[in-house]
Amino acid sequence: MNDKPEKFIDNNGLRLDGRKADQIRDIKIEVGVLSRADGSCYLEMGNNKVIAAVYGPREVHPRHQQKSTKAIVRYKYNMASFSVEDRKRPGPDRRSIEVSKVSREALEDMIFTEYFPKSAIDIFVEILQADAGTRTAALNAASVALADAGIPMRGLVSACAVGKVDETLVVDLNKDEDNYGQADMPIAMTPDGKITLLQMDGNFTLEQFKQGLEMAQEGCRQVYEFQRKALLDYYAKKEETEEVAVIEEVLQEEAPEEVVEESIAEEMEEIEEDEAEEVKAAEAESDQEIEEDSSETYETSDTVEEEATETEEPEDEDEEKEEDESTIDESDDEREVSQ
Ligand code: CDP
Repeated sequence: MNDKPEKFIDNNGLRLDGRKADQIRDIKIEVGVLSRADGSCYLEMGNNKVIAAVYGPREVHPRHQQKSTKAIVRYKYNMASFSVEDRKRPGPDRRSIEVSKVSREALEDMIFTEYFPKSAIDIFVEILQADAGTRTAALNAASVALADAGIPMRGLVSACAVGKVDETLVVDLNKDEDNYGQADMPIAMTPDGKITLLQMDGNFTLEQFKQGLEMAQEGCRQVYEFQRKALLDYYAKKEETEEVAVIEEVLQEEAPEEVVEESIAEEMEEIEEDEAEEVKAAEAESDQEIEEDSSETYETSDTVEEEATETEEPEDEDEEKEEDESTIDESDDEREVSQ
């Protein structure tokens, strides 16, 4: 634990972290960081790091909690055990139950709950790193997450604290200012200045309270600008990427047809060429065969003639045989005569 600083405001009127009295800490907001939530937001406010997730409108469990005329809003603030210097005991404690209750009330009236009877809108906030003002940082993140979830609201809720150190009013207290300061007053409000949360720890004079309220109002207005810008940037980018995705989808849908058409045309061309070649080859082959056949037939007629001449020869032999036979017959006759 740090010791109490001797002075919170230096001779130049600056705070220990170099800020002016009315200056809020740096804010970083990322929208739509959780894909399973209906709406989500990661937010850094100084050294605070929080993440918010919104689910709903959805069915109410347990059912006996449901309201017939409007949606119920549930808010769960949880500090991670590693979020603080000394390990925080995990699970709910009196402080987190109190923070959850006041934060739910700060948001509930801004939501058009009457649009969603018998349903629930669940808001979860996890404090990943704490450095004073976690409830205000959490509310800022939750508000953006609600907008991201598309929950209709009367306005974004923006929050920041105002406090007192060395009798000086300062906005958005850091850890030392919160721990050792004289007063701490977290405030949440709508852009039109309606206060939805106001708590106070410590003492203010009436004048300090009024002045502090004005300072907090200005702080919340600055926070609101960050929230608004983050949402606008996110949705402009999303729209752009969706447009690109749609264009790509259309192109992808068209592309295969073109490719198919092209490939079909190419294939048809190839087939036609092949067929033409085949036909040519077949014609050439058949011509050659015909030529060969006809030359062969001439040859056969020659051979037939040759054969025919060859077959004539045995006829001569037959004649000789007949002549021989007749000589035999004659000799036989001669034999008969001699007998
Ligand atoms: O965070 P916030 O100012 O809304 O609430 P707080 O109760 O005033 O707490 C002030 C700071 O004390 C927190 O932001 C934490 O940094 C610290 N704290 C802690 O160290 N351990 C706890 N169990 C609770 C708070």
